[in-house]
Amino acid sequence: MKRKLIRDIFNNPETGLEVTIMGWVRTKRGNKNVQFIAVNDGSTIHNMQAVVNPADFEEELLKNITTGCSVSVTGRLTESKGQEQPVEIQAGTIRLFGKADTDHYPLQKKGHTMEFLREIAHLRPRTNTFGAVFRIRHAMAFAIHTFFNDRNFYYFHSPVITASDAEGAGEMFRVTTLNLNKLPKTNDGEIDFKKDFFGRETNLTVSGQLEAELAALALGLVYTFGPTFRAENSNTPRHLAEFWMIEPEMAFYDIHDNMDLAEAMLKYLIQYALDHCMDDLQFLNKMYDKELISRLQSVISSTFVRISYSEGIELLKNAKQKFEFPVDWGSDLQKEHENYLVSHFNSPVIITDYPKEIKAFYMKQNEDGKTVRAMDILFPWIGEIIGGSQREENYDKLLARMHEMRVPEKALWWYLETRKYGTVPHSGFGLGFERLILFVTGMTNIRDVIPFPRTPMNAEF
Ligand code: 4AD
Ligand code: MG
Repeated sequence: MKRKLIRDIFNNPETGLEVTIMGWVRTKRGNKNVQFIAVNDGSTIHNMQAVVNPADFEEELLKNITTGCSVSVTGRLTESKGQEQPVEIQAGTIRLFGKADTDHYPLQKKGHTMEFLREIAHLRPRTNTFGAVFRIRHAMAFAIHTFFNDRNFYYFHSPVITASDAEGAGEMFRVTTLNLNKLPKTNDGEIDFKKDFFGRETNLTVSGQLEAELAALALGLVYTFGPTFRAENSNTPRHLAEFWMIEPEMAFYDIHDNMDLAEAMLKYLIQYALDHCMDDLQFLNKMYDKELISRLQSVISSTFVRISYSEGIELLKNAKQKFEFPVDWGSDLQKEHENYLVSHFNSPVIITDYPKEIKAFYMKQNEDGKTVRAMDILFPWIGEIIGGSQREENYDKLLARMHEMRVPEKALWWYLETRKYGTVPHSGFGLGFERLILFVTGMTNIRDVIPFPRTPMNAEF
């Protein structure tokens, strides 16, 4: 079965050439003299139009060609007049692989709501919208590896199953093979995790950072890119229980180097999308968000504003706008505060030096004793897209902070040892992959940029 991808045909249209395309029928129209079948094969947003002379085919075959069925069409390419596409195919042979029962196939021509499409996540990749989103998602994953590879970073794989809580937020999914109906108990009546698969309590990781730090202190420049899991019960358009995170970690980087890398990476990725995904972006721009492409361009040409948390709080206090949540030095920034700061500067904003109480134990402590060298990047439309920091490389300070925050020292002995043996200043950050895809596609709900979203009460497919 020699098949040509529709994308390749459109990129290099050669009239007269005989080709075979394979894909799924989007629409069929026409009359008894001529019929037009639009086929999509997933390689591009554009359909190939097959021109059919009904006299050349069995009536039964043509009757069964309906929206959603799978076909191959072989024929000559001819110039297409008055069509969006440069060529169409004069159908010589049509093969029907699988019919699609018209009474039940849920993707009919009319537009469907995003909510409905989530209920049929097994079929939604066949829509124009999700085809575009998943092609862009692929391009972004590929571009991330290219970006780091070109800069001499090593892709390092952090484990998915872990016994530690990197963020200390306690929002972890447990991993166990114990029989939940018959839990083994110790003499004190506690669950006996010594009998569990790993002989201890384990969870799905919330972040690959701690292991990436170990690698950075040997390989210099590394990044992880894998799934992470958070059992936070936040049903928002920006949160998933399973999401992918890119976490670079760099030896000998201070917070300024860290911010420079993060800004360069985000601009590189957005530029990559504009260079490689324009067909899909134009479709999304036209259908959903007329400002999408101009927003992407404006981020690339902006210089990210860098302010401290304290400066941010001052700006919020002086704002004319009334906020729902209080603006106090010490409390975390809410979505409304982030939005205000981003629109105030009309540019992405990097906020640094947060109060230590609202950040993780591993962040480098500032001289003031109150703040840490954190950096969050806030994006228009998204809010926080990146969270990171310079790391505390001093053994005593790190240990003291772990005690203050009740981070179990015993479980993290290996992490602490890196501060005993050849410690160096180092930094890193985490980019939420789906938040990046949200920004690049202009989709409004994070459930619509990952193939099979995992959210509270939802793990279908
Ligand atoms: O700010 P976070 O929690 O930082 C970390 O996990 C650090 N260990 C990163 C590091 O320094 N290596 O998460 C990083 C990013 C956020 O800025 C956000 O983009 C994304 O991950 N994120 C989520 N994305 C989707 N759903 C969730 N529930 C997310 N939680 C965080
Ligand atoms: Mg964060």
